[in-house]
Amino acid sequence: MTSPATFQRDKLELPFLKDVWYVAGWMSEFEGPGPFARTIADEPLVLYRKKDKTISALADRCAHRWAPLSRGRTEGDDIRCMYHGVRFRSDGTCAEVPGQSQAAPTLRVRSYSVVERHQLVWVWLGDPARADLHSIPDLSMLDQPSRRIYQGSLDYAAHYSLICDNLLDLSHIGFLHEKTAGQPVVELTDVPAGSCYMPGGSEAKLIDRGVRAESWISGPTARSVALPKRTPDGDLWTRTDFLVPGIFISVDRMYPSGTANRCGRLAPAPELESLSDTMSIQAVTPISKRESRYFYSFGPRASEVDVSEGAAMWRIVLATFAEDVKMIEAQQKVIDQHPGDQMGGIAADRGFTLYRNLMKRLSSEEAAAARDSASIDQ
Ligand code: FES
Ligand SMILES: [Fe+2]
Repeated sequence: MTSPATFQRDKLELPFLKDVWYVAGWMSEFEGPGPFARTIADEPLVLYRKKDKTISALADRCAHRWAPLSRGRTEGDDIRCMYHGVRFRSDGTCAEVPGQSQAAPTLRVRSYSVVERHQLVWVWLGDPARADLHSIPDLSMLDQPSRRIYQGSLDYAAHYSLICDNLLDLSHIGFLHEKTAGQPVVELTDVPAGSCYMPGGSEAKLIDRGVRAESWISGPTARSVALPKRTPDGDLWTRTDFLVPGIFISVDRMYPSGTANRCGRLAPAPELESLSDTMSIQAVTPISKRESRYFYSFGPRASEVDVSEGAAMWRIVLATFAEDVKMIEAQQKVIDQHPGDQMGGIAADRGFTLYRNLMKRLSSEEAAAARDSASIDQ
């Protein structure tokens, strides 16, 4: 196992990348024409639906006197600023100036690439020419009718880095969620030292645009809040991926005892039938340096939990999220009280350290690409 001494002991605030898809909200938050105001990574946006129900995103700033367009009204495929009435198309061009025979071509609002996928609305903050739909993670588990899916969101008064850290080291479950998740911290022989009953950050590894932690845990210690009560004991395979810019995908699958060894303690084949299968997909979106929005979901297979069992599991999951909010907001306050001091490092920091280094690299690459395109433009 890597020595804790090799981990970076910083409290770096992760950069707000531009060339990424951020989650603006659940699709269900954008019913009706809008307009809907959202701020992502310090950029105020207005989203609205056109006649064909497709969604558009513009800067929330009228090109005339900078009134927020989210205080305007939608008109067919356009949005009208309700200060002096200038109307804009969904590409940000001016369609009408009241009292003028012609629209003003110089009045232009920035438009953003926006797409709906896997029950979520995604916004690309960078140059639309670079918007790459393939970089939206495969969250198709959210679309599976075979699952009983619960979803929601909550706001944090904290930098989104701290929420990412939290999701990149689930060993905190044994402590912070000791009472709600109801699982004592146990010594395990089949996961690396330093892990609790859930995979911690110490075995995390870098994958394409993210960090992965996965493990097999066997016997009664494998019980977790993510498992339906009627699931028999066996070998639990857990995988968590945390992908840029803050997408968390976790899968908990229980298999009959002996499966872990039959798989060589490697990931089971996707077609291998499991006794239970629960997923959780979450997304962290920065709003500003001290505000973040956290989108979450939880989805056991409907065949394994009835409505009341699913609701009971969901209540526990929500209670754990409330514990995270309390702790992380308190942590943010302490951090802000000690701006010059250095934090400590332990083995479980590996997951978020890998992720922080990845984000730093992507941020440098983005800055270099911006410099290159600026020099080409000159
Ligand atoms: S500020 Fe929008 S029309 Fe004047
Ligand atoms: Fe937590």
